[in-house]
Amino acid sequence: MPILPAACRPETAMLERNPRARPTASPVARAVLDEAGLERARATIRSWPGYAATPLHRLDGLAREAGLGTLLFKDESGRFGLGSFKALGGGFAVARAVAAHGRAITVTCATDGNHGRAVAWGAARAGCGCVIFVHEGVSAGRRRAIEALGAEVRVVPGTYDDAVRHSAEVAAAEGWILVSDTSWEGYETVPRDVMLGYAVVAEEAIDELGAERPSHVFLQGGVGGFAAAVASVLERRFGPERPRIVVVEPERAACLLASCRAGRPVSFDGTLDTVMAGLACGEPSFLAWRILDEVGDAFLAIPDHAAVATMRLLAESVAGDPPLAIGESGVAGLAGALAVAAVPAFRSTLGLGRESRLLVFGTEGATDPDVYRALVGRAPEEVLAR
Ligand SMILES: Cc1ncc(COP(=O)(O)O)c(C=O)c1O
Repeated sequence: MPILPAACRPETAMLERNPRARPTASPVARAVLDEAGLERARATIRSWPGYAATPLHRLDGLAREAGLGTLLFKDESGRFGLGSFKALGGGFAVARAVAAHGRAITVTCATDGNHGRAVAWGAARAGCGCVIFVHEGVSAGRRRAIEALGAEVRVVPGTYDDAVRHSAEVAAAEGWILVSDTSWEGYETVPRDVMLGYAVVAEEAIDELGAERPSHVFLQGGVGGFAAAVASVLERRFGPERPRIVVVEPERAACLLASCRAGRPVSFDGTLDTVMAGLACGEPSFLAWRILDEVGDAFLAIPDHAAVATMRLLAESVAGDPPLAIGESGVAGLAGALAVAAVPAFRSTLGLGRESRLLVFGTEGATDPDVYRALVGRAPEEVLAR
C-alpha cells in the first residue's frame, strides 16, 4: 500500500451510492440555477474590482501516489482576499439585496465562519449594516475576521443550525434582510442567489479545462449549497457526459449522506463536532438537497483525521507538486478522493482507475491561521514560502 493513502487511514470512510441519481438531464438543477441567473452572477462578479479566476493546479505527484490519472485542484484560498469561495455567494447575494432594497438595509446571517465573512464583506462594499450570528464553536480567529470587516458579531448557544434559526427569528423581528446560505420551504430566493455566486467557481474550472473533461468530481458538503451549485453547472455544460459527482462530508456531520439513505432531507443526529468547521451542519439546504438528489451520484463520509492528513500532505508537497496551505474544510473533497482511491471496493464502485481525471476544490485557505498551525505544525506563510 503506498504511504499516501495509509496516512489517511481511509478504511473508516463510508460510501453510499444514490439510487435516484439521474444519468440524463436534471430538471430541478436546470430550473433552480437557470441560464439567466448564472449569466447575471457571472457578469456581476467578473465586474468587481480585484476579480481574477483562481488557479487550477495539477497535482501530478499526488495523482501518481494515489493511482489516479490526473488530479486537478482548484485553489480558492486567494479569492478576493477572503480566503474562500464563499466570497462569491455571500457577496453576490448582498449585492442583489442592496439592488432590490437600497443601502439603508441591515443584512444578517448565521455562519460557521466563511459565509459570515463573505456577507460582512458584501455589506462593507455596499455600505449597509451587518449583524452576523456565530455559534459557540466558531473559532476566535474566524470571529475576528468578520469583525474586521465592520460587522457586529453575536454569539448564540448551540450549533450552526441553531444559529440559522435564531438569525431568521431576529431578522423577522427587526426587519433585517436574511442572507442565509441554507434554504427551507418558502425561503429560497436569497439562497439561490448565494448558489448562483458559487457557480462561478465551476464555470472558471470548466473554462480553464477547455476540451479536457473530468471523469470524477469530489465536492465537500456542509448544507450542500456549494456541491449543488457546482454539480448543476457540470450537468448543464456536459449533460449525460457529465463527470461522476461525489459529495464528501465529515462523518460527524453527514446530513447529506443521511438524506441520501432516507430518500428525503433529514437532520443528522449528533454534536456536529468536527475539525471541518465549515461543514459542521446538521440540516441540508432544501434547494441544494433537491438538486443533489438528482445529480449526486454518491455520498461519502470521512473521519477528521483524513482531513488533517490531507492538509499535511498538501503542505509537504508530494513529489514536486506545489506546496499548498489549505484549511480543514477546504481539503475535504480531496481527502474524500484519496480515501476512495485507497480502497479497492470504493474504486470499483465509482469506476475509479489509473486513467481517471479527478477535479477537486480547495474551497478555503488557512482561514484561521492559528487552527491551521495547530493541525499542520507550521504556519501557512512558512508552507507557502517553501
Ligand atoms: C471552506 C468551505 N468549504 C465548503 C463549504 C460547504 O458549503 P455548503 O454549506 O454550501 O455545503 C463551506 C461552508 O461553509 C466552507 O466554509
